[in-house]
Parts: sequence; C-alpha cells; structure tokens
Amino acid sequence: MKYQSQKVALAYFAVAMALFAIQVLGGLLAGWVYVSPNFLSELLPFNIIRMLHTNSLIVWLLLGFFGAAYFLIPEETEREIHSTKLAYLQLLILVVGTLGAVVTYVFDLFEGNFLLGKEGREFIEQPKWVKVGIVVAALIFLYNVSMTVLKGKKTAISNILLLGLWGLALLFLFSFYNPHNLSLDKQYWWYIVHLWVEGVWELIMASILAYLMLKLTGVDREVVEKWLYVIVAAALFSGILGTGQHYYWIGTPSYWQWIGSIFSSLEVIPFFAMMAFAFVMVWKGRRDHPNKAALLWSLGCATLAFFGAGVWGFLHTLHGVNYYTHGTQITAAHGHLAFFGAYVSLNLAIISYAMPILRNRDPYNQVLNMASFWLMSSGMAFMTFVLTFAGTIQTHLQRVNGDYFMDVQDQLELFYWMRFGSGVAVVIGALLFIYAVAVPRREIIEAGDASVPAE
Ligand code: HEM
Ligand code: HEM
Repeated sequence: MKYQSQKVALAYFAVAMALFAIQVLGGLLAGWVYVSPNFLSELLPFNIIRMLHTNSLIVWLLLGFFGAAYFLIPEETEREIHSTKLAYLQLLILVVGTLGAVVTYVFDLFEGNFLLGKEGREFIEQPKWVKVGIVVAALIFLYNVSMTVLKGKKTAISNILLLGLWGLALLFLFSFYNPHNLSLDKQYWWYIVHLWVEGVWELIMASILAYLMLKLTGVDREVVEKWLYVIVAAALFSGILGTGQHYYWIGTPSYWQWIGSIFSSLEVIPFFAMMAFAFVMVWKGRRDHPNKAALLWSLGCATLAFFGAGVWGFLHTLHGVNYYTHGTQITAAHGHLAFFGAYVSLNLAIISYAMPILRNRDPYNQVLNMASFWLMSSGMAFMTFVLTFAGTIQTHLQRVNGDYFMDVQDQLELFYWMRFGSGVAVVIGALLFIYAVAVPRREIIEAGDASVPAE
C-alpha cells in the first residue's frame, strides 16, 4: 500500500461484504417465498424481505464505490486522502442509517410519521431522517475526495469517477420530492433509479474498470483514457434521454415511446464499448499481473454487464415489445443480470484487486476466488435464463391470452423452484468469495526474510 489513508477502503469493503451476504440471503428467502408462499408471511412479509434484498444491494454497492474511491484516488492524485477521520465518520453515518431503516421496517415502526416513518417508494424506501443522513454522508464524501483531487494530480480516471459520484449524490436529492400525482411521482423517481444505473453509475463503472485495466494489463494511460472518454460520451448521450424507456405507460405524452425506444437502444453501445475495451486492453497488455482473480472479475464484469444490461435490456426496451412484457419476470431477469454484471462484479473486481494490497498480502486464494466467480456467475446466468422463460410464458398467458395473474403464477412454479436452486449456488459463491478475500493465506515474503512463514 503506497498511501496510508488508503486503509480507509478496508473498513468500507468489510461492511460492504457483510451487507452483500445479507443481500443474497435475503434474495434466497424471497425466492423461497415464491415456492412456499405463506412462509414467514406474518413475521416478515414478502414486501419487507424484498425491500431488504434490494436496498441492501444498493447500500453495499454504494459502500463499495466509496471504498473504491478512497482506495484509488490517493494513487491517482498521488496524495493522502484529505481527512481519514471524515471518511470514517461518513461510514458511521451510513451504518447507523442502514440499521435505522432495517429496524423501522422489520418492526413496523412510526407508521405515517413525516420524519421517522417508512416512505415506501421502491429503492428509496428509507425514512426521511435516513435520507438526510445519506445526504450528509454524501456531502462529507464529496468534500473529502474533491479536496484530495483538487490538491493533487488530476487524471481522467479520478475526474470521471468524481463526476459520476457528484451526479450520484445530486440525483439522490430527487428522493425528497414526492408529488401526489402518481405520473409525476414516477417521472421523478426514475430520475434517481434510471439516471443512476444507466447514467452516472456507468461513469463510475468505466473509471474503476479503466483503473483496473491500467494496473492489471500495463497498457499506456493515454490509450486507457481515450477509451474512457468515448465510453462516457456514449453513456451520457444515450442514457439521459433513454429514461424515456420508463415513460411509456405512466401517463406521459406518447412521443416518449419513440424517444425512449431510440435512445435506450443506443444504451447498448457504451456497454459494448466497455466489453471491447476490457478485452482489447488485456490482449494488448504487456503485464502478467499475479492477481488473476481481479482480472477474471474485471473481464466477467464487462461481459456480463453487456449481456445483462445491453442484450437483456434491449430485449424489452422497444415500446412495442414492452407493451407486453412490462413488469413481468422478463424485467426481473434483466434486473438481476444487469445489476450483477455491471455493479456487483465491478465491486468484486476492485475488492479482489485491493484486498491483498490493503492487507499487505500476496494475491492469495486465487483458486477459491476464481471458483466463486464461476459459481456465482453461472448461478446468475442460469437464474436469468429461468426467469426469461418464466417471463415469456407469463407474457403469453397473461398479456396475450388474458389469463389471471395468480393462475399464471401457479403455472410458473417449476421455474421458481429452479430460480431457488440457482440462488443457492449464488449464495454459496458469495460466501466463498468473502472467505477467499477475508481469510488470509500467504504473507508477502520479503527477500531473505525467513521469519515470515509461508504456507
Ligand atoms: C448479487 C446477486 C443479486 C442481485 C444483484 C439481485 C438484484 C435484484 C433486484 C435488482 C431485484 C428487483 C428486480 C425488479 O424490480 O425487477 C431483485 C428482486 C428479487 N430477487 Fe434478487 N438479486 C440477487 C440475488 C438473488 C438471489 C440469490 C435470489 C434467490 C433466489 C434472488 C431472488 C430475488 C427475488 C425473489 C426478488 C423479488 C422478485 C419479485 O418481486 O418478483 N435474488 N433482486
Ligand atoms: C447496468 C445497467 C442497468 C441496470 C442495473 C438495470 C436494472 C433494471 C431494473 C432493476 C429494472 C426494474 C425496475 C423496476 O421496475 O423496479 C429495469 C427496468 C428496465 N430496464 Fe434496465 N438496467 C440497466 C440497463 C438497461 C439498459 C441498457 C436497457 C436498454 C437497452 C434497459 C432497459 C430496461 C427497461 C425497458 C426496463 C423496464 C422494464 C419494464 O417495463 O418492466 N436497462 N432495469
């Protein structure tokens, strides 16, 4: 580790990994309710389990991004983090907020209270006081990293990462605006949900991938930066108006059907470019980096993001198709592979890369880590196929034949069993990953230092 303040990232990654475990276990529980519908229905209803599953996902991904920023910004700017104390305070606020949201929902507290009560809009369900906490934490973060970047060397990687993180924080402010009109509510809700994952998060993804490529392949920085600019331009050009893909049926004017269809189709381009970028860099690279697991996750990330977001997104984004598939299991298939490919794998890639450095170890447990990649990725891929088949049948029976929703659900039982099975593989893969990065194996052996035992 070149800079002492990079150590902050370790705390962020540790909390992120704990929440990752909770997230996938929550998914498994939700998957079990699909095959055994009354399971826990009194104690922990499905809507709460689902909320815990999706929100712990978002929170741990954000913690991973923050950790990644604290890890890579000192190296890029060639400076220590402006204040490590502030960085720990930010983490503390986020942990308290997360626990607050969980307790409020699990114990069903403060119903209807303006400040303390549940908010109930998917992904931004946190009570208002938690939202305020998130904004304070985001401000601390932005101040801290911006000061570091301003004082230090400026690179395309750190600038684009900062741009993405600023956008992420500013867009979250829309969560405070909750108009009574349902169409308007949805319109602004997508400003957060869509402009995050198909806008500013793509900038974060591109910059972290670029950093990993730079370190793992040894390709010249100029080459990496050129790709980065093209990817970012394509992401913003397509992603902003691509929001229209969610405006087809919410009461907005019908021109959105064309704007949404055209621009969201173009969103495939940045994901394709990221995949091409990763493979070209590895192909051109001269470095044989020992951290093979980080490289595998980086390539896996770019590939699965292209399929999950690009291909599975395009599958249902034209309004003529979406008219039939909207809100079916096709959406869930896409949501899973897109999130897993783009943002889960990205975090696992940077964690695989950073952990040995942060803990002053040689890249260890490569085999276990790589096995966890294959287990998790094939589990998610299988789950995506299963849900896609379920969604196709659902679309036909429900939307074309006009059968009742619950009757159709009964007919999909076999698929839900298979989804549960693939979920078990994903959970085992996730626990294996955490074990592989958290439990040290081999110390770095200094030349001539016989006192450090090797395993
Ligand atoms: C890292 C892996 C995972 C990611 C990124 C992820 C992501 C998501 C997302 C984004 C949603 C909301 C989908 C939507 O609104 O369309 C969701 C819902 C759900 N997930 Fe996961 N999930 C993961 C793992 C799992 C696992 C292992 C299972 C276990 C079977 C699972 C089961 C479910 C279920 C049952 C729902 C609710 C679907 C519904 O309401 O119909 N997930 N997940
Ligand atoms: C990494 C990037 C992406 C992520 C994480 C992601 C995730 C999601 C999630 C979770 C949903 C369900 C939201 C809800 O209704 O609650 C969704 C919906 C949707 N996504 Fe994506 N997505 C990504 C990229 C894309 C791209 C590039 C496209 C188009 C090419 C796309 C097309 C769609 C469409 C059309 C819907 C609406 C589905 C419906 O009508 O039910 N997505 N996405």
